[in-house]
Amino acid sequence: MGAAIARALHDNGHPVAWCSVGRSEATASRAERFQKFEQLHELAAWATTVVSVIPPHAAAETAESVVQAGFQGCYVDANAIAPQTAATVQGIAERGGCSYVDGGIIGPPPKKTAGSRLYLSDGGDGTAARRISTLFEGSIFEAPVLVGLGPHAASALKIVFAAWTKGSAAMLLATARSAEGLGVMDALRSEWEQSIPEMAARLERTNGAVGSKAWRYIGEMLEIASAFESAGQPGGFHRAAAEVYQQIADEQ
Ligand SMILES: NC(=O)c1ccc[n+]([C@@H]2O[C@H](COP(=O)([O-])OP(=O)(O)OC[C@H]3O[C@@H](n4cnc5c(N)ncnc54)[C@H](OP(=O)(O)O)[C@@H]3O)[C@@H](O)[C@H]2O)c1
Repeated sequence: MGAAIARALHDNGHPVAWCSVGRSEATASRAERFQKFEQLHELAAWATTVVSVIPPHAAAETAESVVQAGFQGCYVDANAIAPQTAATVQGIAERGGCSYVDGGIIGPPPKKTAGSRLYLSDGGDGTAARRISTLFEGSIFEAPVLVGLGPHAASALKIVFAAWTKGSAAMLLATARSAEGLGVMDALRSEWEQSIPEMAARLERTNGAVGSKAWRYIGEMLEIASAFESAGQPGGFHRAAAEVYQQIADEQ
């Protein structure tokens, strides 16, 4: 997703760079067309805006590294993190002298045409978020600004969206695995055909979509669990979903 965000900015004529320290060959090949810095402090001195698009569990630690490297511009966290984690990231960024814009991405990495959204919020009148949104104007990402819904509205929206999509996917996978374990999968499929005919196709799509990405969903489910708890809802659904994804990741 980071490469897709970078491509949108690059295609809009904005200079884009990345830092190679600690990154894999796969990331390096996705980032080939962008300027490379081998050290984070070099990137921090060059950039006016940093957009963080990484696995959610590393959001705070990445903000800390960027700030420690001397970055002084606008830090945009676009990861699937709970609003309270976003508040932690914002605190890190602001204590380091940066400004902060919250982000949340909904939709797959878009290919040629616009189809995914980078929601943005800043907790103020939307000026800072709109400045980031403008960078994406006419690109493969729409970048709607959420005004008046609090500083971490973009993260909150992403979290509740993923709560249903990835949470219900985990429930379906656990259901199918339990049906297999209990020896009634074929009987369940027959019953589905009669009463919920779309389920078999949904299971197939879900199996295909999760696979090698399961490890990345674990942190996201834990973020959703803590966001639910902060809203007075039980976090147990998504802690269990994290366990389902952990099980699948362990089998890969
Ligand atoms: N993919 C989607 O459809 C989608 C949709 C909506 C939102 N998002 C959000 O986008 C974010 C990234 O997801 P993704 O699908 O792009 O994941 P991904 O394909 O696994 O890519 C993660 C990238 O982050 C790098 N990375 C991993 N750990 C890091 C760390 N500690 N510090 C800095 N960089 C690190 C990885 O580099 P290495 O290769 O070196 O590990 C890789 O380049 C997540 O917050 C996710 O929720 C993704």
